Amino acid sequence: MNRILFISLVLSAIVSCSPQANDGSGLWLPEGEPCVNAEVVIDTTLDLRHDGFIIRDLPEGRHIMAKTETGALYGRYALQRLERTGRAEGVLDIREEPSYAIRILNHWDNLDNTIERGYAGWSIWHWGEPVPAELIREYARANASVGINGSVLNNVNATPEMLSAENLKRVAEIADIMRPYGVHVYLSVNFSSPAALGGLKTSDPLDPEVRQWWADKVAEIYALIPDFGGFLVKANSEGLPGPQDFGRTHADGANMMAEALEPYGGIVMWRAFVYAANSPDRANQAYEEFMPLDGHFKDNVIVQIKNGPVDFQPREPFSPLFGGMSKTAMMIEFQITQEYLGGSNHLVYLSPLFEECLDSDTYCLGPGSTVAAVTTGKIYPEAYHTTAIAGVANIGRDANWCGHHFAQSSWYAFGRLAWNSELTSEEIGREWLQQTFTSEPEFVEPVLDMMMTSREAAVDYMMPLGLHHIFAGIHHYGPEPWYDPEGARLDWLPKYYHQAEPDGIGFDRTRTGSGNVNQYHEPLASMYNSLETCPDDLLLWFHHIPWDHRMSSGRTFWDEMCFRYQRGIDKAREYKALWEEMKPYVDSERWEHVRERLAIQESDARWWRDACVQYFQEFSGMPVSKEFEQPERPLEELKAIKLNMLHHN
Ligand code: GCU
Repeated sequence: MNRILFISLVLSAIVSCSPQANDGSGLWLPEGEPCVNAEVVIDTTLDLRHDGFIIRDLPEGRHIMAKTETGALYGRYALQRLERTGRAEGVLDIREEPSYAIRILNHWDNLDNTIERGYAGWSIWHWGEPVPAELIREYARANASVGINGSVLNNVNATPEMLSAENLKRVAEIADIMRPYGVHVYLSVNFSSPAALGGLKTSDPLDPEVRQWWADKVAEIYALIPDFGGFLVKANSEGLPGPQDFGRTHADGANMMAEALEPYGGIVMWRAFVYAANSPDRANQAYEEFMPLDGHFKDNVIVQIKNGPVDFQPREPFSPLFGGMSKTAMMIEFQITQEYLGGSNHLVYLSPLFEECLDSDTYCLGPGSTVAAVTTGKIYPEAYHTTAIAGVANIGRDANWCGHHFAQSSWYAFGRLAWNSELTSEEIGREWLQQTFTSEPEFVEPVLDMMMTSREAAVDYMMPLGLHHIFAGIHHYGPEPWYDPEGARLDWLPKYYHQAEPDGIGFDRTRTGSGNVNQYHEPLASMYNSLETCPDDLLLWFHHIPWDHRMSSGRTFWDEMCFRYQRGIDKAREYKALWEEMKPYVDSERWEHVRERLAIQESDARWWRDACVQYFQEFSGMPVSKEFEQPERPLEELKAIKLNMLHHN
């Protein structure tokens, strides 16, 4: 289950999934150990949190100081970055401590080497084959260079087999390779492992034999991997087993595992991505299920919550749980892999999306209670025995690691923001470009502008104005707002989300609708509730509005929607043209690679506009204004497109 098989692709969707050697990676960092001009001092008495470091110019020369080996390594990478981006001149006096203690990638890799929602080839862990030590070392080095210190090796849709003695041996080998880089391994576990793997009669978390089974399994793991990080658990979600199967709560399940891990310092990352089939509003559910459990989790449990309340859409408001729970540690889960953003075909720099969520004010303790402030433990320190942040990895065996050269920038940005949640996407993007391509301002500035606007462009050409989840069924590449196979789960269908009717479009989550707005604190609840004050970008997320509704731009809603689709296409075209001019600054291999993909992106943007505008026109009955380009391909032709990407979920 839960694997992607690419059989063949039609149209412009070229999502590579082929095993390739890993050279010509184009990563942002030079080969080998960070080589910097400084004296490195490790002093365990220094007053530095976690693996922080100091870079200081003393009369006798430049020094890097840290309490730990890993801290010193981070300091060396930081100085290397400053040197390579021309910022190491003058007198340096820098002190850095990470925003989050645990900065972790979630790999959705399966034991057969496929990757769920992976668009960059097979799993780099090479399950069932000899361990590719060099490749894994290179991966760990790249992570260390931006401060990522953890990897969950396997899919959240975990098979019980993951915990077999043989697989654990492989995990230990991987841990040994990554240890010098400060990267700890973690595993996703299947809740029914005691029964499915251990042969017990039940996996009930309150059953003493089940508890013993987990305690023994954890002991076995720590005997092999003394610095093992802990478990990630997806339970009672999308058909996976969980404590509710036995009449128990999420807290019962999480605490059972936490108890087993506690003696070794391990943690449980318990996911809040839960929703029952066909409920009136999926966006309400995580909050409804988890709020009553606030304060019931053990200290080494941290609840892992997707940035938005539905599912990694191009734009969502932040999950209201971040402003909700005050007695439970919470961590954000971002998706770096572009499941809903054009796979590895579209250039979409995700840092602005991450930043938007981190900077969102929850108002849970008044203004300034941002999602970052909550999850770094500043708002409710007594609830946070640790802090963490996760990103679903976009890494595979493709030569360039991420399928699209520019997708590396989102991996990089995730790490940089996890280290320092106050960095801006612009500074991160600039330093990534300088290290990855060149420091020539004639290249860096326009390309940075392309990166910075790319997420907004994708929102425009895919789902402007708060539209969401109108993707093609199953594989989520391309538009299919009409997708409605017989017998399908309602909350997996676009119509559940867009609610297009002759009277208007959008999901009514106001106080008179699903009431979702009430899960937010004031002033957000009232702001989202009112059509007058709801931000345009989230309009259809919170409101069902008439097609002729007058927008602040002066346009009708229908015209505004057409305008935004057009704006998205214009941007994609602009990117294509810009890249032509950038040829002198980039080697031909990478230049050609990006050029090909920008062409796909532009053609996909038109595909999205043609599909969505013509489909919604069937409800609005309104013409596409002459101001805008008219759709090119007829709706019937677009409806016939079926990409053969099988995904079982
Ligand atoms: C999405 C995604 C699945 C994934 C799930 C999750 O629904 O499409 O492939 O398993 O999220 O995050 O658990």
